[in-house]
Amino acid sequence: MSSPTPVTSWIHTQPCTIWHGDNLELLRMGPETSYGPVKLAYLDPPYNTGRELEHYADRRASADWLSFMRERLVALRAWMRPDGFVVAQIDDKEHAYLQVLMDEVFGRSNRLHTVVVKMAEVSGLKLSHADSRLMKTKEYVLIYRMGPDARLTPERQLKPEAQLHRYLRYYTKVIEDPSAPVEAWRIVPIRKVLEGLGRPVDEATMRAFQLEHADRVVYRTNNKLLAGMTFDTPTAEVISPQGRRYIWWEGRQMLFLSDHIHEAQSDLWTDISTINLNKEGGVAFRNGKKPERLLARILELTTAPGDLVLDPFAGSGSTGAVAAKLGRSWWLMEKGRQATTHIRTRLDRLFDGDEVGGLPYEVDRLVGADYRFLTPHVAEEAP
Ligand SMILES: C[S@@+](CC[C@H](N)C(=O)[O-])C[C@H]1O[C@@H](n2cnc3c(N)ncnc32)[C@H](O)[C@@H]1O
Repeated sequence: MSSPTPVTSWIHTQPCTIWHGDNLELLRMGPETSYGPVKLAYLDPPYNTGRELEHYADRRASADWLSFMRERLVALRAWMRPDGFVVAQIDDKEHAYLQVLMDEVFGRSNRLHTVVVKMAEVSGLKLSHADSRLMKTKEYVLIYRMGPDARLTPERQLKPEAQLHRYLRYYTKVIEDPSAPVEAWRIVPIRKVLEGLGRPVDEATMRAFQLEHADRVVYRTNNKLLAGMTFDTPTAEVISPQGRRYIWWEGRQMLFLSDHIHEAQSDLWTDISTINLNKEGGVAFRNGKKPERLLARILELTTAPGDLVLDPFAGSGSTGAVAAKLGRSWWLMEKGRQATTHIRTRLDRLFDGDEVGGLPYEVDRLVGADYRFLTPHVAEEAP
């Protein structure tokens, strides 16, 4: 264990850190340069549910909750890169108030999106109040940029299962070698390829193959332009008078599965499962734990590998685990005992190479990774 180091001396030098203490204390120290190193601050504060939860108290007068948040948001600004993002998750209770507050602190024109995210499965909710209330399944993810240089990187997503299924039923053939000239393409049933590989020809194996090779899995459809043409080969390249490129396939147009299975990312996220959330990371944290897939989506939308992610309300450490898995650096702040019982345990397991569930990742890449565990006034090495 090295001798204690004042926190401020290494704010810019040691990226991966658990800070066990009140986040305001550290946020107020502020970096010494004009702007900080943080690309993404993800805030998942107590939602002010009015309840005493297992791991933290969540009961304040609304005005107190707002001043609590205001102080932290204002202090946070100094930590952010000018091309960074502040993302906050919240439910109905304080959403509107938090949004107005964040508009004020970060600028209304910097509010990029209010994402609605499904955070519970209707089937998993108790039916006792279902006759007099709507079941609560959604939360909000508020996305603010620090300035005009901040660029989101939305990912194309797979279409919903029902739509996808319709395409997969028809796209049952594959080009053996798409790098060959078009005239030489051999197109064979996927079933035959799987048989040749000694793999089962069942729905799951077919689906996996179709999605993995979507850029050479094909189907054909009618096209008036191509219908009247003839070639000596089964396939040929045709350029239309408008300059569009088609693949002629025995009098019809060849379509590629890869052009049809994705859709643009929207601001309504209903596809992330919350089933078995308690098991993720090997630490149960009732009330408040977020799915690793949700955090992965937020991190991929706002950061690149190597960027620094800060979570001032770290809870069970989901953000740290996902940042590590995705090759981002991380800073976590947590004032409760869970800094040790959950966050440290979760990350130690990850770095020991234990199977911890959640987002899949390359286990070997993380084994032996290191971090610092800090208490308010000194830094001490993690064992
Ligand atoms: C909703 S939970 C976060 C859950 C986390 N996103 C996860 O996936 O596990 C909020 C956390 O903020 C912590 N917290 C509340 N006030 C804090 C403060 N002033 N400083 C640091 N942590 C605080 C609470 O102890 C609680 O663990």
